[in-house]
Amino acid sequence: MKFLNVALVGCGLISEEHIRAYQKQADRARIIVCCDIDPNKAAQRATLVGDARAVTTLEEVLADPEVDAVEVCTPHHLHAEAVIAAARAGKHVLCQKPLAKTLAECDAMIAAAAGAGVTLFYGETSLTQPAAVEAARVIAEGRIGRLVGVQATLAFWQGGKYLSTAWRYDPGVTGGGQLLDSGVHALALMLKIGGPIRTVACLAARFREELGGEDTCALSVRFEGGHLGTLFCSQAAGTWVPQPSLVAYGTEGAVTLGGPLGALVLHRPDLPDRREVLQEQRGDPFAAMIGQYLDTVLGGAPSPSPGEAGRENLRVVLAAYEAARTGREVTMDEVTMDCIQV
Ligand SMILES: NC(=O)c1ccc[n+]([C@@H]2O[C@H](COP(=O)([O-])OP(=O)(O)OC[C@H]3O[C@@H](n4cnc5c(N)ncnc54)[C@H](O)[C@@H]3O)[C@@H](O)[C@H]2O)c1
Repeated sequence: MKFLNVALVGCGLISEEHIRAYQKQADRARIIVCCDIDPNKAAQRATLVGDARAVTTLEEVLADPEVDAVEVCTPHHLHAEAVIAAARAGKHVLCQKPLAKTLAECDAMIAAAAGAGVTLFYGETSLTQPAAVEAARVIAEGRIGRLVGVQATLAFWQGGKYLSTAWRYDPGVTGGGQLLDSGVHALALMLKIGGPIRTVACLAARFREELGGEDTCALSVRFEGGHLGTLFCSQAAGTWVPQPSLVAYGTEGAVTLGGPLGALVLHRPDLPDRREVLQEQRGDPFAAMIGQYLDTVLGGAPSPSPGEAGRENLRVVLAAYEAARTGREVTMDEVTMDCIQV
């Protein structure tokens, strides 16, 4: 396959980023259908695309033989049904984060894609942003020595247009609070940089009644490699400073990503200025994600973000919720299929 015809399913807030990203890939892909249960939203996004068809049901999308792939941008709790149906219809799928709300759903989605021989790509920009990919490479090369710890922060004030979507703030519907909604971005980065996690401890709090679920979490994790990690994530922090950031500390140096420096920086005592900027953090994270998705589907490149990565992401979230609930350090082995959340 040389060119991908895509159907956008879910024409809400994030769909605009997907449309803009595909417009930058016009030589390899285009959106041909915009689907939303709300006909106005479908029509509005179809107009933004330019020459896409607007429809209101997934069935219409899947019955269209011109559609090669489906972009699932519906609310979290509706991902599984759309992904499974699309895969069974032989369509490749990119699914927005979080992959789903239960591990059983994740497994069914992964199995449906494998059974149909289509790609299931986990739409998590942290796994495809060039600076994160480079940071993981630099650390794997041993340039900061042995990894000691990873410290991540993703704290901001959830506001503006995002407050208009009621489903997002009902944990009974989505399966979680801000850790599932936005903390997953930082967790994905921690897993990419630090490797698999073995245990999780978590403190959770709520400062904003209107958000539902927890709006702030502090996690401590032990990685399989023996190194440690922390994550502070919040949707109740009334500031964007410091920026989302990650610091990886090694025995011979450190790597910083984002934060006040806004770049990927290698810190070592033997460097001139004791530091070297490896990559500026510019560019469009959605364009980078769609670019790597197309490399995978059209170019046969190994996927940087398979469905399994989304499942593992969710498993850490569930372990954190269990740890917050019980007040103890939870091993990842304890997170079973029927683990209750929130
Ligand atoms: N990567 C990021 O930074 C980022 C940011 C925001 C949202 N997201 C994710 O994107 C997804 C959507 O979030 P959003 O903010 O766009 O939400 P939204 O509520 O603005 O949009 C969801 C859309 O899906 C539509 N929809 C619901 N059921 C449908 C169905 N059965 N078929 C077709 N359309 C249906 C709704 O009408 C709505 O227009 C979520 O999984 C969210 O976590 C990711």
